[in-house]
Amino acid sequence: MLDRLQAQAPDALLALIKMHAADARPDTIDLGVGVYRTNEGATPVFRAIKAAEQRLVDEQDSKSYLGPEGDTGFVTALMPYIFGRDATMGGRIEGMQTPGGTGAVRLAVALSKAAGVTRIHMGTPSWPNHVQILSDVGVEPVLFSHATAEGGADLDAVLGAIRNAAPTDAVMLHGCCHNPTGVDYTDEQWDAIAGALAKTGVLPILDIAYHGLGKGLDEDVAGVRKVLAVVPEALIAYSCDKNFGLYRDRVGAFYMMAEQPDQLGAITSNANALARANWSMPPDHGGAAVRTVLRDESLTQQWLDELDEMRSRMRRVRARLAAADNEAPGLNLAVLGEQNGLFAMLPLSKDQIVKLREDHGIYMAGSGRINVAGLHEGNTPKFIAALADVTKD
Ligand code: LMR
Repeated sequence: MLDRLQAQAPDALLALIKMHAADARPDTIDLGVGVYRTNEGATPVFRAIKAAEQRLVDEQDSKSYLGPEGDTGFVTALMPYIFGRDATMGGRIEGMQTPGGTGAVRLAVALSKAAGVTRIHMGTPSWPNHVQILSDVGVEPVLFSHATAEGGADLDAVLGAIRNAAPTDAVMLHGCCHNPTGVDYTDEQWDAIAGALAKTGVLPILDIAYHGLGKGLDEDVAGVRKVLAVVPEALIAYSCDKNFGLYRDRVGAFYMMAEQPDQLGAITSNANALARANWSMPPDHGGAAVRTVLRDESLTQQWLDELDEMRSRMRRVRARLAAADNEAPGLNLAVLGEQNGLFAMLPLSKDQIVKLREDHGIYMAGSGRINVAGLHEGNTPKFIAALADVTKD
């Protein structure tokens, strides 16, 4: 039977990690997969997480099963940061832990399908795994354009998708720090999107994978909150990979907002059944560490400080690139200063991307996406000079 399987291409982004690791040149620059890096190029464990992990080692008295919903203390501790002061929206939101944000997206798509959704509208380009998940679950992706050529968000495209959606469609939106463009909707654009969703009743699926890496914890979810304030129902996927630096521990959460609190029991029972069939229960450790941080005032403050430090550093890198606009004309580096999060798209050709890799040891996704956190004071001049080189003709 297994002989029938056709070889699949490796995931392009994950293949890039291996390609970069195999490059022996001393001054390579890895702008591939989306992990945060310090000014020294490291991806350290957060100090707040280290302290929480130590406490878990000292105090955890069992590793017995918790259930498909995972660590509910972790799930509820995050809620005020995402949803604000009325963290359950009057008892209408309930959540569960998932294996990473990917698990949460998968659950959102599978739950929407169980509820009758057949198509999901999504802006493109997007995180390549979004389309893969939809296809794997068996929901049709319907694509609209996310960003304009000038580097802003394409409001008409998203509004058109919402207004023309069929009653069994959903729409998936990135909460903040759009992957791969870094282009987020403005407050006014979120108002229009929220209004269109409320008017049409199209189910929103909101994917928040970079909370706190854009403008600030509240600012980054202001758009999501605008939507939740006016729509009857929504599904929210959340990742702690980046904002708690827990990548490989796979820490995510999935929240369901119902029209009425008494509908949540049936909705969450479906999500639990889907989780049980997919992964049974989420991995515990990272979620327990986040809960430990968020239940302790001083660890919470330390986490907030570390997140501030990350965000400020990325804003400095963005400002540095924007200031180099003249050095690589045609790339519109200026606009990077207005965008958010880890990612930006550079309008480079395939040949230019290969030349950057082969001649300069600079690794980026084939789409032209760069991880701005891969840049720091030491390597940014080299990156800008390399961009000038590959665009000079
Ligand atoms: C990325 O887009 O680089 C990250 O979200 C990591 C991943 O899983 O692809």
